[in-house]
Amino acid sequence: MSCTCGHSDESAKQEALLTALDKYKTVKGALIPLLQEAQEIYGYLPKEVMQQISKSLGVPFSKTFGVVTFYAQFHLKPRGRNIIRVCQGTACHVRGASKVFDGVSKKLGVEKNGTTEDLRYTLETVACLGACGLAPVMMVNDDTHGRLTPDKAVSTLEKYE
Ligand code: FES
Repeated sequence: MSCTCGHSDESAKQEALLTALDKYKTVKGALIPLLQEAQEIYGYLPKEVMQQISKSLGVPFSKTFGVVTFYAQFHLKPRGRNIIRVCQGTACHVRGASKVFDGVSKKLGVEKNGTTEDLRYTLETVACLGACGLAPVMMVNDDTHGRLTPDKAVSTLEKYE
């Protein structure tokens, strides 16, 4: 049964995690794939989840934590529903990418890798999005937006709930 308190959602996640733990219990080298699955389920890796994974695989928590902090693909905090990636590659840089980033950062009130309090956006940077001809470029989720100015970038974000 669904409710608005979020409990049913949490228990569904816990159940999915238990299934994943079970699946990898006896698999060698399972730490990274299991962390990936757990992150798919939760959207990030809460401490309790990392503890459960460590316990299930019999690896020290410090090792699990070390892996999570080493790889950029893992996240220790909840992320926004919309992931913004402002390109900071050379082509974008020379065409004002820093101003685009600053404009977005100021509008959202978050720094690099920050997430807005309402979890609507996470702001990241990236080295090159492979669309240099459209510099400066940012991606929002899977959409590429090019030839940006700070104002254009900010107004583009408004359509992402
Ligand atoms: S440098 Fe920005 S897309 Fe290549």
